[in-house]
Amino acid sequence: MKRILITGSNGLLGQKLVYLLLEINKKNPNLYEIYATSRGENRLIRKEGYHYYDLDITNQEQVRHIFHTIKPHIVINTAAMTNVDQCEIQHEACNLLNIHAVDFQIKALEQLQHETINYTPHFIHLSTDFVFDGEAGPYAETDKPNPISFYGNSKYQAELLVQKSKLNWAIVRTIIVYGVVDNMSRSNLVLWAKKALENGENIKVINDQFRAPTLAEDLAEGCLLIAEKKANGIFNISGKHTYSILELVNQIADFWHLNKDLIQVVSSQTLNQPAKRPPRTGFVLDKAIHTLGYQPKTFQEGLVIVDKQLKMRDL
Ligand SMILES: NC(=O)c1ccc[n+]([C@@H]2O[C@H](COP(=O)([O-])OP(=O)(O)OC[C@H]3O[C@@H](n4cnc5c(N)ncnc54)[C@H](OP(=O)(O)O)[C@@H]3O)[C@@H](O)[C@H]2O)c1
Repeated sequence: MKRILITGSNGLLGQKLVYLLLEINKKNPNLYEIYATSRGENRLIRKEGYHYYDLDITNQEQVRHIFHTIKPHIVINTAAMTNVDQCEIQHEACNLLNIHAVDFQIKALEQLQHETINYTPHFIHLSTDFVFDGEAGPYAETDKPNPISFYGNSKYQAELLVQKSKLNWAIVRTIIVYGVVDNMSRSNLVLWAKKALENGENIKVINDQFRAPTLAEDLAEGCLLIAEKKANGIFNISGKHTYSILELVNQIADFWHLNKDLIQVVSSQTLNQPAKRPPRTGFVLDKAIHTLGYQPKTFQEGLVIVDKQLKMRDL
């Protein structure tokens, strides 16, 4: 049985990973022993079928202790400071969570690997399209990063640490992730736009940034394909198609028959956000499709899934 440890299991991707692993275990009960870890209390509604540990990954001793207790074969590091503007303001906190905490995990696994015969843990680390400057998207895994924000740089510095490690590693780069989870601490583009338009709020939406939105289930699937295949290297895991944020919000409004008159089209400049955003990202997915068998949903298919999950929740 493979012991798999997820960090940030209360987050969007973390929750989807735990639920997907539980589904896999239903069909094949001896495949994974699941260890969900996050800061504080477990916020998943379902609490059976896995172990939960309160783990703050910025606490090096706690990381070392829990990793030594569990001796995971696979670690998927989803925990991060993901608020781009917060990172631009709180440099130290951003570096601690996005860089140093990654180093703590690498060191704990390297030590375990050194001490244990026949043990080669697989470290799967989540990264972002924001490692690029957005001048030449869509990007392939081999394109050279050039971050333009503090967040993007912190994620790029962590990528370099992972690549330098002595572990079997994979870096998963992804792009605006959307989905429905239990007791969410933060929203995402789809839920935000849907809710605001339903409430009759006027929203400002940019038309000069382009992204390939990623269904959280697809991202979880991509991470587990990497784990199953013990794949090594950088992988782009996102939705297939790139749209402007305006096009995305228009599709969201059309899907739920919401009032598009509430959408005010603006340029990025007028938002005056602390962090710069790359204008055009999007990913070339050939590597993930051909080497992993990754098959992302279209944005419309993703919205159908989100809609079903929201309805289930209302029952
Ligand atoms: N979401 C996106 O659009 C997007 C796009 C590109 C890349 N990514 C990358 O994908 C990964 C997963 O993103 P996500 O959307 O799942 O993020 P998320 O929903 O913000 O989840 C991150 C989780 O990490 C937890 N966490 C924060 N600090 C922690 C700490 N010190 N120790 C342990 N856990 C901690 C958070 O806990 P609380 O909930 O208690 O705060 C949260 O549950 C991240 O590495 C992110 O950089 C995400």
